[in-house]
Amino acid sequence: MREHERIQRAAARSLDRLWPRVAQVFAQVEGADEDCAAFEQRLRREWPRLFSLLLGLYGTQYDFFYQLEQLALAMAQSWLNRPRWLKQRDRVREADHEWFQSERMMGGVLYVDRFCGTLRRLREFIPYFQELGLSYLHLMPLFAAPEGNNDGGYAVSSYRQVNPRIGTTAELAELARELDAAGISLVLDFVFNHTSDEHEWAQRAQAGDPDYQEFYFLFPDRSLPDAYERTLREIFPTVRRGSFTWRPDMQRWVWTTFNSFQWDLNYANPAVFRAMAEEMLFLANLGVAVLRLDAVPFIWKRMGTNCENQPEAHQIIQAFNAIARVAAPALLFKSEAIVHPDDVLSYVSAQECQLSYNPLLMALLWEALATREIKLLAHSLSHRFRLPPGCAWINYLRSHDDIGWTFDDNDARAVGIDPWGHRQFLNAFYTGRFPGSFARGLPFQENPDTGDARVSGTLASLAGLEQALDQGDPAAIDLAIKRVLLLHSVILSIGGIPLLYLGDELGTLNDYSYVTDPAKADDSRWVHRPARNQAAMEQRHDPTTAPGRVFGELTRLIRLRMQLPALRDGEMMVARSDNPRVLAYVRQGDGQRVLALANFSEQPQPVAGNLLRMYGPGNAFIDLVSRQTISTAETLTLQPYQFVWLMPTWLAERALPES
Ligand code: GLC
Ligand code: GLC
Repeated sequence: MREHERIQRAAARSLDRLWPRVAQVFAQVEGADEDCAAFEQRLRREWPRLFSLLLGLYGTQYDFFYQLEQLALAMAQSWLNRPRWLKQRDRVREADHEWFQSERMMGGVLYVDRFCGTLRRLREFIPYFQELGLSYLHLMPLFAAPEGNNDGGYAVSSYRQVNPRIGTTAELAELARELDAAGISLVLDFVFNHTSDEHEWAQRAQAGDPDYQEFYFLFPDRSLPDAYERTLREIFPTVRRGSFTWRPDMQRWVWTTFNSFQWDLNYANPAVFRAMAEEMLFLANLGVAVLRLDAVPFIWKRMGTNCENQPEAHQIIQAFNAIARVAAPALLFKSEAIVHPDDVLSYVSAQECQLSYNPLLMALLWEALATREIKLLAHSLSHRFRLPPGCAWINYLRSHDDIGWTFDDNDARAVGIDPWGHRQFLNAFYTGRFPGSFARGLPFQENPDTGDARVSGTLASLAGLEQALDQGDPAAIDLAIKRVLLLHSVILSIGGIPLLYLGDELGTLNDYSYVTDPAKADDSRWVHRPARNQAAMEQRHDPTTAPGRVFGELTRLIRLRMQLPALRDGEMMVARSDNPRVLAYVRQGDGQRVLALANFSEQPQPVAGNLLRMYGPGNAFIDLVSRQTISTAETLTLQPYQFVWLMPTWLAERALPES
């Protein structure tokens, strides 16, 4: 406690000394009094936290106070430069800081180049996004990157210059505003663990500048790399063994967790932290509403550990969060931690990342689809779904990345599943190596030493549509489409922001053509990153086609969700179905209650009427999806892959008066 007080006093003293210089930034601009006052108020509020985080990270470094001052000046300058419409958004969202918990929130993600080529053309698709009900659009990395393989843009050469083939930075800023006017918040990546080897900092390091060499992890020989590698996990073992790359031009080993051209940044250096904070504020002022913090687990290295999820990684993100609260108050962070569920959760809080991918739900939905059993899914959800206040899951089925089986081993054992064997089974099932599997996927990053692998493939191909269409079997096609809709029904109703991988709304299949492109051939994730399928898009209103069926049903569900305040935020209770193939959960709020049931098998499944009665007084429910009345006097039979959203009749009549 004493220590805490001492730091608080030091924080206050340092701010008193700093403030006159910060105020200068505003004094130089006419009419900036109001901006200055607002900034000062927020800075004073956040300063003790920011100061103590940075003191903990960098306090022992001789240039700590210099870096702190430069950071404060940069924050002030950034706030001054922040466009007026964003300041307006800051005000609105600060007053309603849980705006993203709404039942109307719906996310989408796409690659601009694969979807339509350029930012300019993307504007033509805003009506399409609105038709889908999107209120959040994540554009995959679109900044300058090396030619050829650049890990889908995740090797960033400049955080300020849009890849010229996609457009300009000015066009991006305009698009952000146009999207905002259409009710859609722009989401971009903050790829802050590494830069490409063509980033200016990396190039200066290559040219021998010692200041920039300290931006990265460079080693003259194998002694330290060997020592670190004793405890590191290999992330891309088929790209290159180990986590370091030899650069003959520099005669140095470089830390490269991912591809050899992605150089990990050294956050032990306060200059790196400050430089990246400035890049972050630049992105914020373009009009970005949410930054997706890429590869969060990896940003701090500690000898003798796996260098993932270190305490300092949290401190760094929290410090970025404090900076955002002051200089770009409406900005939110989304954590991309695809790791053990405990570690995923460790990044989620109002002071760190308010949003997080939910890789556990994603993986276990696929697990349940393969096994036709919900026991691992229900057990894991029952104790791992709750988030701290002010936070939300981003629930997704597919992303641009592979599927990894990140469930907890003890959760598996608790329901009688051998975790290692189960992962082997799931990989076999989803790569078509398991007899009778409906799925068509590809292995990703098989590690010959550990037997580990992950899975690539589009939602529709993994759910069986590709195989069914090849077989020309209408019954199989029907089941595959039902699987696609079943999975969507869960992410739309379970609590959090559903995120649609664009293309999935049309049942897009795997695209195997990536193997002919040498820059992509070694990375099977490209199988599920196809170009926009214009033909499918044109069929979207034709229910006799597969794209039309998926699109029609999905958009109907999205609209239904928007009418149901019970589906807002993330309170969820796993319920009993007394049927091992039927997932059940309750959502409630705003005087409404919804009991969702989802049949994960291709056989009809009974759920006892007595059981339903536990979840709502009265003796009848309305299934909001099919608009049928369900009597609790009888057993409810769910058809293959059927899902229902049940509301007691008397509540439903109030909730959806037109039904
Ligand atoms: C994240 C991205 C992935 C990329 C990696 C390195 O995991 O989602 O696509 O390969 O980071 O940036
Ligand atoms: C992250 C995840 C890993 C994922 C990779 C991209 O490192 O931890 O599971 O596969 O990004 O593919």
